[in-house]
Amino acid sequence: MKLISPSMMCANFANLENEVRELEAAGIDMFHMDIMDGQFVPNFGMGLQDYELISQITTKPLDAHLMIENPSHYVKLFSDLGASLIYIHPEADRHPARTIDIIHQLGKKAGIAIDPDTALATVRELLPLVDAILVMTVNPGFAGQKFLDAVLPKLQAVCQLKQDFDYIVGVDGAISPERIQQLSKLGVSNFVVGTSALFGKSKDYKTIIDHLKQI
Ligand code: DX5
Ligand code: ZN
Repeated sequence: MKLISPSMMCANFANLENEVRELEAAGIDMFHMDIMDGQFVPNFGMGLQDYELISQITTKPLDAHLMIENPSHYVKLFSDLGASLIYIHPEADRHPARTIDIIHQLGKKAGIAIDPDTALATVRELLPLVDAILVMTVNPGFAGQKFLDAVLPKLQAVCQLKQDFDYIVGVDGAISPERIQQLSKLGVSNFVVGTSALFGKSKDYKTIIDHLKQI
């Protein structure tokens, strides 16, 4: 299984509705929505209006990648906006297990997104609780960065532990077609694609997505 999730902060906002329709027609699996607060990360991602617009015009699921402090205060907001899967950063939450429980009580899937410098051991107790793990392969906050190879051993360990728990493994940051080929062999099944594989390329989205799904 290979899920392709376009990182919509990399989309052409002057033409957002068409972008969404073309990506949907191209066969993407889930829209990846980067939410930032200028505190947990030194940047601001997509706004609530962007989220609402995309949620209203698509039938595909949306995630919410919450790169914000105190995510527990906002999970209901994104659940109400239509998020199917909500990722929190445990690094930004005092009680991540409680926030994961709140997300489940809202009837949504819960995931953790872990920074490159977050050791697996520090989130080990959360593994039985989550539906998805997003391993950051760049420092969160910006598109167009370089892939951090130092994350590979942790990613391998997260994939190996998958058989003991019930989560899917995703990667986010500088994911190129070559990385999709390499990492799907490790057991990664959800690929957030931004400027390294999808946006700003000469080919149409359908050709690109078909290729990414086949490699
Ligand atoms: C970065 C975001 C990513 C980013 C991906 O913090 O979480 O989703 O937009 O963009 P590329 O693929 O260009 O790294
Ligand atoms: Zn992201």
